[in-house]
Amino acid sequence: MARVQEKGTEADVKKPSATTPGLHEEFDVTVIGAGPGGYICAVRAAQLGLKVLCVDKRKEAGGTCLNVGCIPSKALLHATERLVEARDLFPRMGIQCGEVKADLAAMMANKDRIVSETVKGVAFLFKKYQVTFRTGHASIKSPDCIVLDGEEVRTKRIVIATGSAPATLGGIEIDEKQIVTSTGALKLPHVPRHLIIVGAGVIGLELGSVWRRLGADVTIVEFADHIAPGFDRDMSKQLARSLQKLGINFRLNTKVTQVDKRADGLTVRVSPSDATGAEGEEALSCDTLLVATGRRPVTEGLGLEALDIKRDQRGHIIIDENFNTSCPGIYAIGDVVPGPMLAHKAEEEGYALANHLAGHPHHIRRDLIPGVIYTHPEVAMVGATEESLKAQNATYRVGTYPFMANGRARANCDTEGSVKILTCERTDTLLGIHIIGPSAGELIAEPALAMNFGASAEDIALSCHAHPTLSEAVKEAALAAFDRPLNL
Ligand code: FAD
Ligand code: NAI
Repeated sequence: MARVQEKGTEADVKKPSATTPGLHEEFDVTVIGAGPGGYICAVRAAQLGLKVLCVDKRKEAGGTCLNVGCIPSKALLHATERLVEARDLFPRMGIQCGEVKADLAAMMANKDRIVSETVKGVAFLFKKYQVTFRTGHASIKSPDCIVLDGEEVRTKRIVIATGSAPATLGGIEIDEKQIVTSTGALKLPHVPRHLIIVGAGVIGLELGSVWRRLGADVTIVEFADHIAPGFDRDMSKQLARSLQKLGINFRLNTKVTQVDKRADGLTVRVSPSDATGAEGEEALSCDTLLVATGRRPVTEGLGLEALDIKRDQRGHIIIDENFNTSCPGIYAIGDVVPGPMLAHKAEEEGYALANHLAGHPHHIRRDLIPGVIYTHPEVAMVGATEESLKAQNATYRVGTYPFMANGRARANCDTEGSVKILTCERTDTLLGIHIIGPSAGELIAEPALAMNFGASAEDIALSCHAHPTLSEAVKEAALAAFDRPLNL
């Protein structure tokens, strides 16, 4: 409840001034980057009465997330999931719709329309709250001055929200046609015959699913001995089984050593990763290679060195609990600072920083940022994994419940997966929730909220859940954690 009082009330939300300032005026805050971190920070600061400038290299606001990340990838994931459903599930449900086939050009056009309408939404918010938006490359001259494409702009404070870009692999040249990052993989003009993906992280698994569903042979080469790093190992094992059923081929414990372009495709040389102690090399053939080995913070060209803004070993800007960098008056949020590289984490930081700049208290539960993989089945988590609890020598209980025993999942013919709840053995307090199954990304909101309020498994189990809903699986897993499930 404390959080409600901490947040600004409606009365704090000031009406924007009648005129939008020009660049010759001094701004209260200048935000560099209009991704989910930057644009939310700009809008919230303007709501709280500050005069805000937001600048981005891209013509359209929205950053990676709206332009080449979350939104286009989810548009393709949704469309291709419906394709598989119509082809494989509709006949089982008694729906005949003749031959089901993909129209890739139309699917891409639909994705592009969704992106362009969504980025217009950010432009609308900027206009509504009188945030001045400019396109151009920004660098920082001093804590009270940025340089935007050669023009100096005065400002009282600066927020760096410059996000991240794909990490590249040494010796492999990205052309965004044959050898692509996620950006190229979101707009391939043809379905590849064989797509090799380096990295079984979130991007590899999501975009691998898209192209496999569209008919490509997909091989994912992963350094580690498991997929989906950072997720609970039980979930990662179940997801690997499901994606193998879809036809994705995993090469775990394997690294890519070299890629050669041939006239008719690519030769990808792989060998066992060093941890295995094994040796040997193998040549794989493909027409498209997606490099999905993580993302790096974007700080080049900002002028951080001259300002002595400190970064960690991975290049992230170091900040304190109030988002201060090592240079007073300059703040940083989102993918460019440490923590999970997620849009909702960037948004939370943008909102909290704007409140801080306007003199309001702020609060982020960094341990309760949910993670979701939008494959089928979906995977979602919040809180601790079982592996991390073991590493801490914590005493915990586990409650699990399969969607196979959930009425709604059965009615929907979508029963793959389960819910796993980890609780403190002594107090029953929720420590971590892991869901693999239908709508896992939506279902995780309830336990995430419960954990924010310090709830126990019993609290969830004794809350009435509507029947028949998928959310009953969460309730049953909670019952399993503190007592026993009913419908199992
Ligand atoms: P960004 O969104 O990267 O925005 C930074 C902006 O700063 C960019 O627009 C850039 O042009 C601008 N910029 C950089 N330097 C300068 C400069 N010097 N001057 C002016 N402008 C500059 N996250 C999720 O939570 N859920 C998802 O489903 C999800 N899916 C994703 C799918 C893909 C394919 C990818 C690549 C990412 C996905 N992400 C997802 C991650 C998410 O996109 C990022 O975490 C999020 O966009 C980070 O927000 P940000 O505001 O920190 O930075
Ligand atoms: P990632 O960090 O999730 O996964 C990278 C994978 O590549 C790891 O499993 C790693 O072991 C492997 N790897 C690294 N180097 C390798 C090598 N040389 N050979 C073989 N494997 C190698 O990174 P990814 O998938 O690129 O995603 C980047 C970021 O984007 C993530 O931080 C993620 O949070 C965000 N994102 C989030 C999404 C979501 O929330 N649904 C969707 C897509 C991206």
